[in-house]
Order: sequence, then C-alpha cells, then structure tokens
Amino acid sequence: MSFERIVILTGAGVSAESGIDTFRDSGGIWSKVDYRDVATPEGFARNPAKVHDFYNQRRRGLLRVQPNAAHRALARLEAVFGGSFLLVTQNIDDLHESAGSRKLAHMHGEINTALCEACGARSRWSGDMTINSQCPHCSTVGRMRVDVVWFGEMPYHMDRIEAALARCDLFVSIGTSGNVYPAAGFVEQANAAGAHTVELNLEPSEGHSSFSDAIYGRATEIVPEFVRRLLAAEVDAAFERIVPLP
Ligand code: OAD
Repeated sequence: MSFERIVILTGAGVSAESGIDTFRDSGGIWSKVDYRDVATPEGFARNPAKVHDFYNQRRRGLLRVQPNAAHRALARLEAVFGGSFLLVTQNIDDLHESAGSRKLAHMHGEINTALCEACGARSRWSGDMTINSQCPHCSTVGRMRVDVVWFGEMPYHMDRIEAALARCDLFVSIGTSGNVYPAAGFVEQANAAGAHTVELNLEPSEGHSSFSDAIYGRATEIVPEFVRRLLAAEVDAAFERIVPLP
C-alpha cells in the first residue's frame, strides 16, 4: 500500500524504553500520584508548590534520557517520506524533537515551556519553577506555570490536527492506552476520512477494535520495522510510477 498523507499519534509508550514512566501501566505515574492534585487547574490553585515540584522532578528526569529507536524511526520517516506528514504527540517530553522530528504538534504542551498566567506569554524553561518564579516577559512574580495541558483544559493545535486527520490516508497510533480524549477519538476521525488505521502498542488499547490493523510489541522493535516496511512500499510504488510493471 502506498500513502500520501500520514498522521501519527504517540503516547507515553513511545518514550517508555527511554526510561520515562507511562501513566496507566502498573507502577505508572497515576498509581503513585493523584492526577487531580498535579494535573488539573484546581490542583494547581490548591497547592502550586506541589504541582511545581511534580513537574520539576520530571523536567530534571529528562536530562538523563535519550530518544530511542522508535523516536529515531519516526524522524527518519518524516525526513524520507515525500507526502504530507504530521506527528502528534501527547507526550510533554522533548524526545521526538531530540531525535530530529520537526513536523510535530505537542497537543498536551511541553515540560520545557512555561506559561505566565498574568500576561499569557510562553517562555522556554529549563530549570526548576517555583511559586516565586518571575515571568521573563512581564516580570510578574508568582504567576508562572508549566505549559502543559491539564485535565479540563483544551489541548493545543487542535485546528491543525483535525485538518490533517480529515485528509489523511494513513493514521498510526503508537504507545497510547486510548483513555484520554480527544486523542482517543482520532482513530474514528481518520476512519471517517477513509484512512487506513494502524495501532502499534504493547497490548490492545481501549479503542483497539476501531483500527484496521495492529502490531503488538515493544515500540523500539515494532516502530522501526513498521517504518522500514512503509518506506520500502513507498519506494516500490514510486518505482512502479516511473517504470510501469508489465
Ligand atoms: P498511558 O500510560 O495511558 O498508556 C501507555 C500505553 O503504552 C499503554 O497502552 C502501554 O501498554 C503502552 N506501552 C508501554 N510500554 C510500551 C512499550 N515499550 N512499547 C509500546 N507500547 C508501550 O499513556 P498515554 O496513553 O500516553 O495526559 O496517556 C495519555 C494521557 O494521559 C497523557 O498525555 C497524560 C495522561 O494523563 C495529561 O496529563 C493531560
């Protein structure tokens, strides 16, 4: 099969083998901390220091991790694939861009970005954030938060993502449990567009029956192999266009 417009969705499973905890696997982040305390606007209003501490630890953790073979394979796909391409990630880590991905939408925000609640400006943020942090734009103290999308907030880049889903002919969901909307509904939007839909995950996700195809295994093994086969099929299709087979 040959494709012209690809949308990829990734979740925590793509970064798991880099050493970043997933959310809902046993021992995952939400088994250790209540999401209502650290991933809702209400939790931040109740105890901003606790929320800063949670994301500071995760931001520091990023200093110790590297992109894995799955991130690299997706960057290679973007570089080699000739059609339209969008990589949508629910992850707030920077491993896709470290691997070389550029056509990338962080729908749940980024841990290395801060948002000022006073002036609305976003800034790159590499160190810890505290209740006394100052906005580099408006200089207000104490109104900075991590620029991640919390439960109850609207994910980012939805116009761009929905436009890409409405015209994609291949949708691939990688390393996500399919528990969180709107991302969990992307497969149905891609199906409505007539796309071929594929799930690559360790195990069947919540929405597994919506996909046309599935491959189960570790992301570092199944994603590079999937990309290799996809690009080989693209080369075959291009060759057939130049030299029609008898
Ligand atoms: P989850 O933790 O819910 O799901 C991770 C999925 O990855 C599971 O289905 C695992 O089976 C799979 N997985 C684990 N290790 C894997 C590996 N080595 N290779 C392939 N797959 C693997 O994480 P997400 O679906 O990303 O949002 O969670 C979605 C959102 O829920 C997150 O963005 C976050 C969370 O609450 C917010 O915080 C707003």
